Amino acid sequence: MSETELILAIESSCDETSVAVIENGEKILSNIVASQINSHKRFGGVVPEVASRHHVEQITICIEEALNEAQVTANDLRAVAVTYGPGLVGALLIGLSAAKAFAWANGLPLIPVNHMAGHIYAARLVEPLEFPLMALLVSGGHTELVYMAEDGSFEIIGETRDDAAGEAYDKVGRVLGLSYPSGKEIDHLAHQGEDTYNFPRAMIKEDNFDFSFSGLKSAFINLTHNAEQRGEALDHNNLAASFQASVVEVLVTKTIKACKVYPVKQLIVAGGVAANQGLREKMSATIQAELPDLKLIVPPLRLCGDNAAMIGAAAHVELQKHHLAGMSLNANPSLAFQHI
Ligand code: KG4
Ligand code: ZN
Repeated sequence: MSETELILAIESSCDETSVAVIENGEKILSNIVASQINSHKRFGGVVPEVASRHHVEQITICIEEALNEAQVTANDLRAVAVTYGPGLVGALLIGLSAAKAFAWANGLPLIPVNHMAGHIYAARLVEPLEFPLMALLVSGGHTELVYMAEDGSFEIIGETRDDAAGEAYDKVGRVLGLSYPSGKEIDHLAHQGEDTYNFPRAMIKEDNFDFSFSGLKSAFINLTHNAEQRGEALDHNNLAASFQASVVEVLVTKTIKACKVYPVKQLIVAGGVAANQGLREKMSATIQAELPDLKLIVPPLRLCGDNAAMIGAAAHVELQKHHLAGMSLNANPSLAFQHI
């Protein structure tokens, strides 16, 4: 039998329908991503019912494209992997149903994958992983520091007490009149401005690894509303730069502290907000200055947002541990990391 293990991976937890073929958990043979973002923009956020309808339209096409691009057939595959949570239940169910049907029709095992584990394992598509490692997971729904003693072991040592970092970006973007999701644009504006408004750095000095972004969001909204009432114009570039400086300083300070308390070989920054240039630059500079032996892995932009390649990378570990699911597998919208 050949050493090559090919997994067909399916992701549909939010607003991206994605299917990939991954070799041995580390090599991308194909990674098709059909984004629905333009359909949600005018609503200022993802509309679950609209998301499900798009997934239904796209899923079969994406499966075909992923197999074609990888130049493989179902006979070449070892297993089918699918995101079963966390995410929007209706959206998850489309990917789950497609994965079950494909697995059943082709006699393949089904591997259930946690979306957030997928974001972390995107790093293995870039570099070999070395344990123990720390992962800073920053997305639209999550902000967590995860300690991994070994493959497949996740210990949350800190998390947000209220809003996720990406959520704060999107809410502040709405106040600035930017379209959803606004993280990328705020990042862009921030690079043309300066930190002049001195927003709070929540929980930065506290002796834990938790975060809070709702106070920053309120401070931002109050400042803009008060200025509006007084008829004062605010500098949007400086506002963006000040907001971003606060988010980035808190994320970097707490992450570096965690890597000192839990000595790790690698730090992975993952999730949609890992695309942030300000965060990438400051994390890298601080590591160079304070922990020069720590290896930083930040996936390329296309692997930071939701995609099925990362699900295939995480599925490889599940398969090695014989974590398979039956046809009764259900979606779990609030799936958390399993306690170890
Ligand atoms: O991981 P992801 O694609 O979806 C979730 O699982 O949530 O993350 C999406 C989030 C959005 O909140 C978006 O505004 C944010 O990632 N984001 C960014 C940047 N690019 C995307 N936030 C800050 N800076 C960016 N460059
Ligand atoms: Zn995600």
